Amino acid sequence: MKIFLDTANITEIRTAHSWGAIDGVTTNPTLVSREGRRFEDAIKEICSIVPGPVSAEATSLDAEGMIKEGIQLSGWAPNVVVKIPITAEGLKAVRELTARGIKTNVTLIFSPIQALLAAKAGATYVSPFLGRLDDIAQTGMDLVRDIVTIFKNYNYTTQVIAASIRSPLHVAEAAKAGAHVATVPFKVLEQMIKHPLTDIGIKRFLDDWSKVPR
Ligand code: E4P
Repeated sequence: MKIFLDTANITEIRTAHSWGAIDGVTTNPTLVSREGRRFEDAIKEICSIVPGPVSAEATSLDAEGMIKEGIQLSGWAPNVVVKIPITAEGLKAVRELTARGIKTNVTLIFSPIQALLAAKAGATYVSPFLGRLDDIAQTGMDLVRDIVTIFKNYNYTTQVIAASIRSPLHVAEAAKAGAHVATVPFKVLEQMIKHPLTDIGIKRFLDDWSKVPR
């Protein structure tokens, strides 16, 4: 399974990239707004650090506007993926951007049928938001599982990005469910590295090592 970092923060991206841990990056308007810098500058810098797919979201609500933005965004770097919300206008835009060879990530997916429609329109990726479903007492992982099954049943090549991830357990479950990608906040990536028994083990080895005559 591929790991994308869900952030627009350059320090986090550089750090995770130096660990060899990330295959791509996803951003959204909220994440970009936290950085207090121009969208274009942020996306171009992220694309220069990470060679894999970098999702940048279109904010128009009509297909014409999304297509225009998508063409512009995809011109910023060859690895830009245009993020489009799942709406009727969004599907129209995905169809047109796909025809132009522009990669898309259909976002804010909360039902398997939304994902199916996005795949039919030619989406490169779909992003089911599992954490936000968990937040309202629905099982987000069921959505990921259902989408993976549907895509397998009909040989869709659209990849499933498990998004809105809140914990390392989400990542493990998404991998078991067969998601192609999990996009994780930096904090979760750090948590994924750590295990208390690893820390105890390192300490014990160092304590014993200090007793070895030199
Ligand atoms: C995905 O691409 C989104 O940026 C993200 O996963 C949203 O997660 P949130 O529910 O934590 O905002």
